Amino acid sequence: MLSSIAELKRVVFDEETIAERVRELGQEITAAYPDGELLVLGLLKGSFIFLSDLVRKIDRPLQVDFLVASSYGEGTVSSGNVRLVYDPETELAGKHILLVEDIIDTGRTLNKLVALLGQRRARSLEICALLHKHAAEHLELEAKFLGFDAPTLFLVGYGLDHAENFRHLPYIASLT
Ligand code: PRP
Repeated sequence: MLSSIAELKRVVFDEETIAERVRELGQEITAAYPDGELLVLGLLKGSFIFLSDLVRKIDRPLQVDFLVASSYGEGTVSSGNVRLVYDPETELAGKHILLVEDIIDTGRTLNKLVALLGQRRARSLEICALLHKHAAEHLELEAKFLGFDAPTLFLVGYGLDHAENFRHLPYIASLT
């Protein structure tokens, strides 16, 4: 079982590089929302470190809440489905919603969440992703704010896991 830091192959994005890009994203997001209420919604668990750093670089009033999603019905229902294990208690209607994701891979998670959140009468809905593999065939909503294009490697650290390990690393590394 892979759980030792010594087994990581190489650092892909180091701590300083991530911090600088997160600072820039905070500035972009601050400028993009001149008015209205902003609710930053982090998709757990992967986004927890990114979201924590990001909101501290956004220089305008905002609220924070989280989503926990769980897929079910896969293999038996052709479309699949997503269920919110934790549905934000914060009111979404009338607010700018910024959905924060650690990585977009196939895009399936986001496509389902975008459809679901689209029914909540928000003022706007946008995505901020730290990493994007550009592997998705179709995205309902492209990320308006993006940290980095990600290589086609299995990445861990800064919230991303392998069998729940490595989330705490302050950098992003590849396993292979
Ligand atoms: C990972 C990641 C994204 C999603 C991306 O979540 O955090 O949410 O997969 O993949 P996709 O674009 O192919 O849908 P995971 O289900 O591993 O849960 P976690 O956030 O708790 O690690």
